[in-house]
Amino acid sequence: MSYDKPIPFIDLASQQARIRDKIDTAMTTVLDHGQYIMGPEVNQLEQDLASFSGVKHAISCSSGTDALLLALMALGVKPRQGVIVPSFTFAASAEVMPCLGAVPIFAEIDPATFNIDPARLDDAMSAAKDAGIEVVGIISVGLFGQPSDYDQLKSFADAHGLWLMDDAAQSYGASWQGRDVGHLGVATATSFFPAKPLGCYGDGGAVFTEDDELAEAMISARIHGMGRVRYTHDRIGMTARLDSMQAAVLIEKLKIFADELAARQAVADRYAAGLGDAVITPKLAAGATSSWAQYVITLPEGVDRQTVQDQLKEAGVPTAIYYPMGMHQQKPYAHYPVAKGGLTVTENLCHRVLALPMHPYLETDAQDHIIASVKNAVS
Ligand SMILES: Cc1ncc(COP(=O)(O)O)c(C=O)c1O
Repeated sequence: MSYDKPIPFIDLASQQARIRDKIDTAMTTVLDHGQYIMGPEVNQLEQDLASFSGVKHAISCSSGTDALLLALMALGVKPRQGVIVPSFTFAASAEVMPCLGAVPIFAEIDPATFNIDPARLDDAMSAAKDAGIEVVGIISVGLFGQPSDYDQLKSFADAHGLWLMDDAAQSYGASWQGRDVGHLGVATATSFFPAKPLGCYGDGGAVFTEDDELAEAMISARIHGMGRVRYTHDRIGMTARLDSMQAAVLIEKLKIFADELAARQAVADRYAAGLGDAVITPKLAAGATSSWAQYVITLPEGVDRQTVQDQLKEAGVPTAIYYPMGMHQQKPYAHYPVAKGGLTVTENLCHRVLALPMHPYLETDAQDHIIASVKNAVS
């Protein structure tokens, strides 16, 4: 099975061609005014993000990881305290706890959504209790673009006196029951890594919150804990600012983001219709929309993933595995508590998931080729 054009896994070149003149102008403006750090673009972007998501505070920062870290610092997470987080996620969601001396407590996911399973949160609490760890909060992760079941997580968090924050590095642009990602948790962190649905041309991130005190703490923490008076310091912080160049890029990309989200949904719909029952296609929970950061299929039990990947590569279809191991299986994290009863869903999916090319510029004929190649490889 052949196809005569290269199929990119993510196509940043087509997007750049669409807005290249605007990016050039925006970059030139930064070069002309020379305020590379905290220039006017940073403030403009924060206003644009806040209005796009309908959130009071949008605080830009240097990466999605720093966004998580700033939120945890502002929430006052202390050494030895526990934070529940799904094991089936990118390292950053769990990494930020040990950075502060705190402890990730690994939770199970729902195989239908790849997101934290509210029904298994009690098991995570029990594991923490057995390890003598006080749990203070939950970080939900909107994996592959779909937000978690926020209502159930919030009820659990409220019942146990926990805060709930969202790692929306992959799900910025999505919504849950009509509410945009960005104001579902007490704080929401996102990433502008180039491959993310809204990405810049380097590293970047943002935290969203409705809470004035949290916002003030995060704004201060991203500049070394600076107080209102320059070179006075209110708290321990770090360098975690977004630079003006990246803000300038994001201002232009945000203008086409809604259109790109609709194009991603169309690609997801075509995949679901074309792949049918050949593989398990991702499903959205009732009332959820996705930003489709990734399109991740689950191969039928017993199908050898490596063989499928090799055949797809042969057919010119790039694929990726998100994620080959749960975080609880990774060496630096193996000693942290795992929900009682184990994480069998996570461990099973790690062997069966396969991400297909997904981006707003995926042409229909390329997608038809991908669908036919996947069907051929699993048959
Ligand atoms: C779920 C999740 N959380 C956090 C991050 C961290 O974002 P960044 O790479 O911008 O630090 C990522 C990025 O890959 C991610 O996918």
